[in-house]
Amino acid sequence: MMQHLLSLRDLTPSQIKVILTRATELKDKLKSGDRTPLLPGRVLTQVFEKPSLRTRVSFEAAIGQLGGYGIFLSGKEAGLEGRESNADVARVIGGYSDVIALRTFSQELIELFAAESGCHVINALSDASHPCQALTDILTMQEALGDVTGRTLTYVGDGNNVAVSLAIICAQLDIKFVIAAPEGYQLDDSFFEDLRGEYPSASLTQTSDPHAAVKEADVIYTDVWASMGQESEKSAREKVFADYQCNAALLASAPTSAKFLHCLPARRGLEVTDDVIDGPQSLAFPQAENRMHLAKGVLAWLLDVHN
Ligand code: CP
Ligand code: NVA
Repeated sequence: MMQHLLSLRDLTPSQIKVILTRATELKDKLKSGDRTPLLPGRVLTQVFEKPSLRTRVSFEAAIGQLGGYGIFLSGKEAGLEGRESNADVARVIGGYSDVIALRTFSQELIELFAAESGCHVINALSDASHPCQALTDILTMQEALGDVTGRTLTYVGDGNNVAVSLAIICAQLDIKFVIAAPEGYQLDDSFFEDLRGEYPSASLTQTSDPHAAVKEADVIYTDVWASMGQESEKSAREKVFADYQCNAALLASAPTSAKFLHCLPARRGLEVTDDVIDGPQSLAFPQAENRMHLAKGVLAWLLDVHN
C-alpha cells in the first residue's frame, strides 16, 4: 500500500522514530559537507492554498539538496478553485510527481489526493493538523534534551492544528503534554479520550491557568492566536488570549532550564515577547532550520531510500 503522511495518527511510534533518525542522519551528513544526492530525478510537487515560508522553502530546499526537483503551485494555479474537479487535479499532478505536499483548509482534500493521485501525499498543514511541524519539534527537543521520554511539553495558547499534532505525538512518544488555553479555545475532551484509548500511557492535561501549566515544563511552546483563515477574529482573539502571552513573567513560573519553541510565524508582542523569542531559552530558529532536515527525513522515508 502507498505510504502517506496525512496525520500523525497514520504513523506508529516506531515509524516516527525511523523518520526522526533519518532526519538526524541527513542533517549530520549535510553538516559534514556530504551532499551526495539521495533522490536524483524525484519530483515533489507542492500545492498550497495558504501562505507559507518555512514549509514551502524547507521542502523545496530538501528535495533540491537530495538531487530531486521541486514544483510549486498555489491552489488557484492548480485549479482547486473550480477549474476542474479536485480528483482530476490530483490524478494529473500524480502522473508527474513522486510526492505531493499539500497545504489546505480541509483535511478531506488532502485525503482525496491520497486516494486519487497514485503517489505519496504529505500534509503540509491543514486546519486540522500540522504533522511535519510536530515531528520537527520533537527532533528539536531531542537535540536539546536527549531522550524525550517522560519529559513535559507545555503548550500555551490556542487549541489549534499545531496543538492537535503536538498532543498526538506526545501521546505516541510518552512525552507529557500540558495545554493552557482559555475556555472555548481548548482541545476537545473527546479528542483526549480517543488519544488515551489509543495510547493508554498518554499523559494529557488541560487547564486555563498558564502559570500552573508551565511549572514542570521542559519545553514551553506557543503559536499564533489567530491561525490562517481566522484573520477576521484577530482582534477578538487578542483580548481572549491576553493572559496567555509567553513573556518573562510566564517563564519565571517555569524551571529555569525550560526551552522555548514557536513554530513561527510569530506575532511579536502578542503571543510572545521579543525578550523570550530572542532570549537564551529560545530554540525557535534552530527549530525553523530543522523543518528542512525533517522534510528530508520524511521524503527519504516515504520513498524508502537508504544511504
Ligand atoms: N511553521 C510553519 O509551518 O511555517 P510556514 O507557515 O511559514 O510554512
Ligand atoms: N496555527 C498556525 C500555524 C502556522 C504555521 C496556522 O494554521 O496559521
